[in-house]
Amino acid sequence: MAGKKVIITGVPGVGKTTVINTSMEKIVAEGIPYQNINFGSFMFEVALAEGLAQDRDQMRKLDRTVQKRLQKLAAEKIAAIDGNVIVDTHASVKTPNGYLAGLPEWVVSAIMPDVIVLVETDNDQILVRRLSDESRVRDVEGAKSIAEHQEMNRAFAASYAMLTGCTVKIIVNADFLLDKAVEELTATLR
Ligand code: AP5
Repeated sequence: MAGKKVIITGVPGVGKTTVINTSMEKIVAEGIPYQNINFGSFMFEVALAEGLAQDRDQMRKLDRTVQKRLQKLAAEKIAAIDGNVIVDTHASVKTPNGYLAGLPEWVVSAIMPDVIVLVETDNDQILVRRLSDESRVRDVEGAKSIAEHQEMNRAFAASYAMLTGCTVKIIVNADFLLDKAVEELTATLR
């Protein structure tokens, strides 16, 4: 499939969607076409239609086999998209039974990314962003737990690179430095 495939990940609340949306405006203004696909939205479409979840935050609590089926359906649709694509998703999802790979072999091999981006920042900043976001039902967890999730995401990303030969890019989205994160992501997309 022609085009650049960029998978963008980060723990909930790190601001990956904010960074993606602003970078999309810049890259499209430069005349480089990109489609921005939200993996969770593809999954949620099916989950809602089947009465499995009423909002996207309920999906990570679903049975593992159900989440895997939803992942597979989303991956099949995304893999069929031609051209430059951003996939907004998760390297790992924190479920009540442990970390679930966001991009298991059958997902990452279907998409075959050129690069996996990890959006990161200080654990305390993520904690504050989650507490300030009233539009979502964010998991309440401490900075230590957020740190563990960010570390796990690096481990998962390394395994995806081993499977596909993609590169792994870490972009820091620190408080007051959104522009810097946007500039780095835009450069990665070019
Ligand atoms: P998803 O749609 O990815 O939701 P999410 O994890 O909650 O991520 P968001 O995009 O809502 O948050 P964000 O971290 O991008 O932060 P935001 O930009 O809003 O996934 C939904 C669900 O789908 C998952 O829970 C999972 O169940 C499922 N799913 C998805 N992919 C899956 C997969 N591969 N396998 C299995 N399940 C999957 O920003 C947050 C806040 O921070 C905002 O208030 C913003 O203003 C602020 N902010 C951002 N940047 C800055 C900055 N630089 N300085 C200060 N504040 C900032």
